[in-house]
Amino acid sequence: MGHATAAEGSMPHFLMTDPDCFDVCYQINPWMQPGAWTADSLAEAKRASGDLKAALKAAGARVETVGAVRGLPDLVFPANAAVVLDGRVLLARFRHPERQGEEPVFRSAFAGLRRRGLIDEIIDLPEGVFQEGAGDCIWDADRGHFWAGFGPRSSQASIAAIRRAFGQEVVALELASDRFYHLDTCFCPLAGGQVLYYPDAFTPQALATIRASVPLNQRIEASDEEAAAFCVNAVNLGDQVIMARAPVSLKIKLAARGYHLTEIDLDPFILSGGAAYCMTLRLDRTSQTQPAVLAAE
Ligand code: ARG
Repeated sequence: MGHATAAEGSMPHFLMTDPDCFDVCYQINPWMQPGAWTADSLAEAKRASGDLKAALKAAGARVETVGAVRGLPDLVFPANAAVVLDGRVLLARFRHPERQGEEPVFRSAFAGLRRRGLIDEIIDLPEGVFQEGAGDCIWDADRGHFWAGFGPRSSQASIAAIRRAFGQEVVALELASDRFYHLDTCFCPLAGGQVLYYPDAFTPQALATIRASVPLNQRIEASDEEAAAFCVNAVNLGDQVIMARAPVSLKIKLAARGYHLTEIDLDPFILSGGAAYCMTLRLDRTSQTQPAVLAAE
C-alpha cells in the first residue's frame, strides 16, 4: 500500500497484530492462566480478533496489521508498543523479559509506517526507563493532556520522558494493584469529556488527582465486576464505544450518557489480561482538540 488517499486520511487509523502466534504460556500478570489455555483457544482468539477488527471498520476506522511472530504471544497487544501523538512515536521499553523481544519487531513495524508517510518520527526512551506504550499513557482529547500510569510496569521516570518527547502536559497516576497493572485496564477518557475509571486500581494520591481534574458529573466509576470484565479497556470513537462483553450495569451507565456500545466476546484475550483497547494502537491522534459536536448558535 502507498500513501493514504484524502478520504483515508480523515479516517481513524489503528494498528493491530495478526493473532496467529497468540498464546498464554507464561504469567506476568495475575489474569494469565497458562493452564486455562486449551486446544480451542487459538481458534477462538482468531475469531475474537477478527470481530474486533470488523467493529473498528464498522465504526469508520481503517486498520494496519503487524505480522505474528512465533515466541512473542503478547505481540497481539500493540497498545504496549509505543505512545503515538502528532505523528511522533515514542517506542516502548518492556519491564518483563518475556515481552522485550517485541521491541525490535515494533521498531521495524514503525519504520515501515514512516517510509509510507503514516508517521513522521521515531523516538527512543532514555536508558533504563520502562514505559509500556499507550497502555500506560492515554491522550485525553477533551482536556488536551496525557494521563500516564506508573508502578507495576512503567517507571516513574517515564513521565518526564513522555513530557520531553511530545512537549505536552502529562498527569501522572500511580497504579496500586497488580491486577490493574496498566492504566488502560482501569482508566478510559471518553469523547464527551467523561472518564470511565476503576477507583480501587489507584493510590489515594492518584485518585485525588483524578477527582481534582474531572468534575463529579463527568466521572463514571466502574464496579469491581465491570473492571474485572475488562470493560474499562475500551476503544472510543465519538459516541461509539467498543469493548469486551459488558455487565448490564455498565450498559445502563453508558447509554445514559449517550454512548452506543458494541460488545465483543474477547475472552481468549482476557485470559492474557487484555481486551479491546490494548489490542489496538491509534496511529492518527493529534493534539489539536477536535470538538465532537459543534455548539449550535
Ligand atoms: N499479557 C500481557 C501483559 O501482561 C497483556 C497486556 C495487555 N495490555 C494492556 N495494555 N492492558 O503484558
